[in-house]
Amino acid sequence: MLFPSCIFALLALTVPVKSSRSSSPFPGPGNASYEYVVVGGGTAGLALATRLASAEKSVAVVEAGGWATEMGNMTTVPGYAFSNPVLAPIEEFPPIPLLDWELLSQPQTGANDRRVHYAAGKTLGGSSAINTMAYHRATKQTHRRWADIAGHAGYTWEEMLPFFVKSSTLAAPDWDKRDTPNATFEFDSTVFCTGLPSCGPLQVSYSNWVDPTNTWFAVALGAIGLHPSSLGFNSGSLSGGAYTTETIDPNSATRSSSQTSYLSWALENTQLKVYNRTLASRIVFKNTKAKGVVVILSGGVFHSPQLLMLSGIGPKILLESLDITVISDLPGVGQNLQDPIFFSVQSGVTTPSLAIELADPNRLEPNVESYVNNQAGPYSYAGGYIAFEKLPTESRVNFSNRTSSLLDSLPDDVPEIEYLAGSFPGTGNGVTTVGDLSAAVLNPFSRGSVTISSADAADPPVIDMGWLTDPADAEVAVAAFRRLRQAWAAGSLDEWQVGPEVTPGAEVETDEQILDYVRANVIQIWHASATNSMGTDPDTGAVVDWRAKVFGVDGLRVVDASVLPFALPGHPQATIYAFAEKIAASILEGN
Ligand SMILES: Cc1cc2nc3c(=O)[nH]c(=O)nc-3n(C[C@H](O)[C@H](O)[C@H](O)COP(=O)(O)OP(=O)(O)OC[C@H]3O[C@@H](n4cnc5c(N)ncnc54)[C@H](O)[C@@H]3O)c2cc1C
Ligand SMILES: *[C@@H]1O[C@H](CO)[C@@H](O)[C@H](O)[C@H]1NC(C)=O
Ligand SMILES: *[C@@H]1O[C@H](CO)[C@@H](O)[C@H](O)[C@H]1NC(C)=O
Ligand SMILES: *[C@@H]1O[C@H](CO)[C@@H](O)[C@H](O)[C@H]1NC(C)=O
Ligand SMILES: *[C@@H]1O[C@H](CO)[C@@H](O)[C@H](O)[C@H]1NC(C)=O
Ligand SMILES: *[C@@H]1O[C@H](CO)[C@@H](O)[C@H](O)[C@H]1NC(C)=O
Ligand SMILES: *[C@@H]1O[C@H](CO)[C@@H](O)[C@H](O)[C@H]1NC(C)=O
Repeated sequence: MLFPSCIFALLALTVPVKSSRSSSPFPGPGNASYEYVVVGGGTAGLALATRLASAEKSVAVVEAGGWATEMGNMTTVPGYAFSNPVLAPIEEFPPIPLLDWELLSQPQTGANDRRVHYAAGKTLGGSSAINTMAYHRATKQTHRRWADIAGHAGYTWEEMLPFFVKSSTLAAPDWDKRDTPNATFEFDSTVFCTGLPSCGPLQVSYSNWVDPTNTWFAVALGAIGLHPSSLGFNSGSLSGGAYTTETIDPNSATRSSSQTSYLSWALENTQLKVYNRTLASRIVFKNTKAKGVVVILSGGVFHSPQLLMLSGIGPKILLESLDITVISDLPGVGQNLQDPIFFSVQSGVTTPSLAIELADPNRLEPNVESYVNNQAGPYSYAGGYIAFEKLPTESRVNFSNRTSSLLDSLPDDVPEIEYLAGSFPGTGNGVTTVGDLSAAVLNPFSRGSVTISSADAADPPVIDMGWLTDPADAEVAVAAFRRLRQAWAAGSLDEWQVGPEVTPGAEVETDEQILDYVRANVIQIWHASATNSMGTDPDTGAVVDWRAKVFGVDGLRVVDASVLPFALPGHPQATIYAFAEKIAASILEGN
């Protein structure tokens, strides 16, 4: 363990790469000292550190990983996002230590005791460097709910919108490059900053290509009632379907992560100091204060609760059992994990598709050329059409009263299901492309957890997503599965569908069989949250207050996906960036 600079006044640090003192990653003139230390240079951490540094605060970022560019173009080319082996949600997964924490879950008792690999970015940029780039915001009433739980109006849609705007810049679709006249749409530019040098660093745009398969899925989803949204999904409403905005820099058609956006800017324009490949293994307190300095923990949904527990903040009984001195007895740390689940119905299709474009060796050269020379074509694309709904009345007839009343407790504008469309290489037998329609159950009632098995930061956090342990989620999953089949059967895909349903196959028919299929195949959509929930009362599980300050200690905030009080509907990164902006602003205002 190294204690090489003044950061050691408040953090214990280890450097995973073998390193003597002289080649330690803390060069520079003597013992540095900082006003703020951000632990975790991920999505939230780099946004927040950048804003503090740009206000001339002295700020250091401590990041366990290095630079994603060491992986060549794997993380930068949008077309590689879905085939990146880092995603593999299976027990025997390929290790990619330069990008991933390599977490393996506990057996999922609600999902046939499977253990799955849960990718989490271990690199500057964090999970924004490996995610699949969908960018959209939550609903107005989601924000109302958050504000109610936090006990602070700052989380309402109206008060958060300026931070969404501040974090990003939107580029309008490049219709010429997209070159798909049947996939045009309206969008709401009033909820973005566009075209000004002063717009936020995160680049948000629409892919310069469209998978033709998705144009047909859009029609099929329309046929079951999910009509195109006239505004898109950034204006506080999630209903119907839309081609989603993505975190892609339109000029280069490359991924915009918190590293390529915020950090690049900060390294050129501020004094921000980055310690890469440096693992924070403990926050050191003097009594209950991280002395002299403010620590902002942005380690993400699994590692922030881990680091809190290692530092003596968490459930007292657990900490004592591991001989960790209790600094703040917070029973909620690591509890309340909410992880939306995800499953599909697949059939062979004959549409032109992304799958063929990427698999056909004859298409490689022209597609790379189109990407490199024109920032267009399949490699510029990372996904497309998504849709949201509350299940229609006919889908709810078999729900238990309990499930119905749990769902009724959610706000009116909060969708229950997200649908995602895509295509994969074929399975042989004349099937060249597999069309994929997936559903995500957005508001899990099941609860998982993060805990620790030792006082050593080198041991991974113990993660249990709790999939399908609440019967309500199982009922909703079955209903969503039937909606997927309805979309396939709605008629618009008839012309393109070949052969019988590939997955799971027509023999899976009854509710029981469907649930068996779901339990055996469900995976995560990588949107876990709420393991250090924001709230007002630590005795009922809250870990941070509305300012993101940890209860029971001074000088410590947590700012990342772990403090969301519940799973947001859909994809969370837009909100995590806005949240980081909000807390940075609040710190600079002295709150
Ligand atoms: C595969 C995948 C696909 C996804 N797809 C989408 C999508 O399409 N759209 C969307 O909106 N969201 C998506 N998400 C979710 C979204 O990317 C995450 O919710 C979000 O990036 C989390 O941000 P964060 O700041 O909480 O954590 P992260 O971005 O994960 O950052 C945490 C950082 O802390 C570092 N760290 C942790 N512990 C320590 C320590 N002890 N010392 C030093 N550093 C430490 C990590 O290395 C990491 O850099 C996806 C996520 C994944 C993993
Ligand atoms: C990253 O850390 C290494 C030491 O592990 C150091 O040599 C390098 O300069 C750092 N890179 C940057 C860009 O900070
Ligand atoms: C840094 O601090 C340590 C402990 O306070 C001290 O021993 C060391 O001399 C300092 N190094 C420099 C370069 O100031
Ligand atoms: C949309 O246009 C593309 C070609 O640009 C075509 O392949 C696809 O079949 C069309 N889809 C629909 C729904 O008409
Ligand atoms: C990514 O990099 C590899 C190796 O340099 C190269 O062969 C490939 O063409 C690149 N891909 C794209 C889409 O540019
Ligand atoms: C409700 O259950 C019945 C009996 O299992 C089944 O036939 C029907 O398809 C179910 N309906 C829905 C919408 O799930
Ligand atoms: C559900 O609630 C209704 C009244 O709201 C009641 O009539 C019915 O018996 C309940 N069903 C079950 C299965 O409990």
